[in-house]
Amino acid sequence: MKLLKIENSSISGEVPISGAKNSALPLISLTILAKNRVTISNMPNVADINTMLKLLKLLGSEFEFENNILNIDTSKISSTTATYDIVKTMRASILVLGPLLARFGECRVSLPGGCAIGLRPVDLHLKALQKMGAKITIENGYIHAVCNKLQGTEIIFDKITVTGTENIIMASVLAKGETKILNAAKEPEIVQLCNTLKNSGVKIEGIGTSSLTIEGRDDLLEIEPLSVIPDRIEAGTYLCAGAIANSKLTIKNIILSDIENIVSKLKDMNFDFKIEPNKITILPTDTIKPINIVTSEHPGFPTDMQAQFMAVATQADGVSTIEERLFENRFMHVAELQRMGADIRISGKVATIYGKNRLIGADVMATDLRASSALVLAGIIAKGETKIHRIYHLFRGYENLIKKLEKIGVKLTLCDEE
Ligand code: UD1
Repeated sequence: MKLLKIENSSISGEVPISGAKNSALPLISLTILAKNRVTISNMPNVADINTMLKLLKLLGSEFEFENNILNIDTSKISSTTATYDIVKTMRASILVLGPLLARFGECRVSLPGGCAIGLRPVDLHLKALQKMGAKITIENGYIHAVCNKLQGTEIIFDKITVTGTENIIMASVLAKGETKILNAAKEPEIVQLCNTLKNSGVKIEGIGTSSLTIEGRDDLLEIEPLSVIPDRIEAGTYLCAGAIANSKLTIKNIILSDIENIVSKLKDMNFDFKIEPNKITILPTDTIKPINIVTSEHPGFPTDMQAQFMAVATQADGVSTIEERLFENRFMHVAELQRMGADIRISGKVATIYGKNRLIGADVMATDLRASSALVLAGIIAKGETKIHRIYHLFRGYENLIKKLEKIGVKLTLCDEE
C-alpha cells in the first residue's frame, strides 16, 4: 500500500481540470442502451472509471481507453450480473441497474452495503423501478430485478438522490410511454446525462429542473460522440488549495456556472478572483474570514466539498461552522485534522472550527475520497511533514493528482508503507 508524504510548500501556477468522474460514470452506464460504438472524450483516467469499465467488460462489452478517449461497444453484452467483488469497491456500480433492466428485462446487481460516509441505502432506486413495473427481490445479497417492459409512470422521489435519478432516467428511455420524475436531482452531471439523451433523439423535458419528463421508445440509442464535462469538485479542491495556502492559483478548463456555489463561499471567506474564459484565478487575501456552510443538493453547497472547506476554515480568523445534511457519517476527516493541531468540535451534524491554528505535520489516515483531499490541503501548509496513509482513496477520483500537485510546487513523495 502507498503512502503520500507532503512537506510544507509554497504553491503557484495553473492546474488543468479533468473530466468529471461523477458525470463519466452514468455516461458509461448509458452506453448499455446504445446500438452503436460510442466515443466519449475527456474521460478521466481514475480508479473509479477503471472499475466501471471492468464491470462493463465483465458484462461482455468491448472497449479501448487511451489518452482520455473511451471507445465502447456494448452490443455483445451477454451477462447481466454485477458481482459483489466490483460493487463492494464502488457503490456507483448501482448505475448499471436501470439500463440493464431496461434493455434485458432482467439483471442481478449486488447490494452495495454501507460505506465510510454513511448507510447510503438504494431503496429509492428500487421503489422507483417497482413503480415502473419491475419485480424486485433480494437474494443472497443481490438485487434481482425482472420486468417484461418497464412502464412509464410518475415517480416522486421522497428524497433527492443523484444516482437514483440517473438510474430512473436511463430506465425510462426504453419504458412504455412517458415517465415523469418529480423531486429529481439537478446536478450538472444529471444535466449532461439528459443532454446526451436529447442529442440521441430522446424526447426529454425539464432538463436542469427537479421535474423531468422522458418519452420512452422501443429501440436502442444512436449516441453521438461526446465529451465529459469538467469536474467541479476537482476544480473546487484546487481552489481550496489556493485558499488554504493563501496563494495565487489558476484553474483552467472549467464551467464557471457549475462552481458558482463553491466560488461564492470562497468570496465569503474574503478571497477575490480573476475570471477569464474557461479559467479562474484565486487571489491571496489579507484576512481569511470564517464561514458558515450547510451542505445540500445542487445548486446548494456540495457535500463533496465540505471536507476541503473545513481544512481551509482552520486558517480563518475566527469560528466557522459546517453542517452536513446529506450523509450521517461524513466527519471522518475531523479526527485526522485534529491530529494535525486543528481545533474542531463536532456536535451532531455540525462541526465548529476554531481558527486560526498552526497545523503541524503528522501521520494521518485517508478514509474516503474527499476526506483525503482535505488532508492533502492541510499537508501543504502544515509545519514539517505530513504522511497520509491509505492514499488510494484519492486515486479513485483525482486524475494525475501527484503530477498536478508537483507542478504547482507541492513537495511530495509517493512511497510504500513503511
Ligand atoms: C452522489 C455522488 C456523490 C455525492 C452524492 C451527494 C456519484 C457517483 N456520487 O452519490 O459523490 O456525494 O451524490 O451529492 O454521483 N438515499 C437514500 N436512499 C436511496 C438513495 C439515497 O436514503 O435509495 C440517501 C443517501 O443515503 C444520502 C442522500 O439520499 O443521505 C443523497 O444520496 P445520493 O444523492 O443518492 O448520493 P449518491 O447518488 O450515492
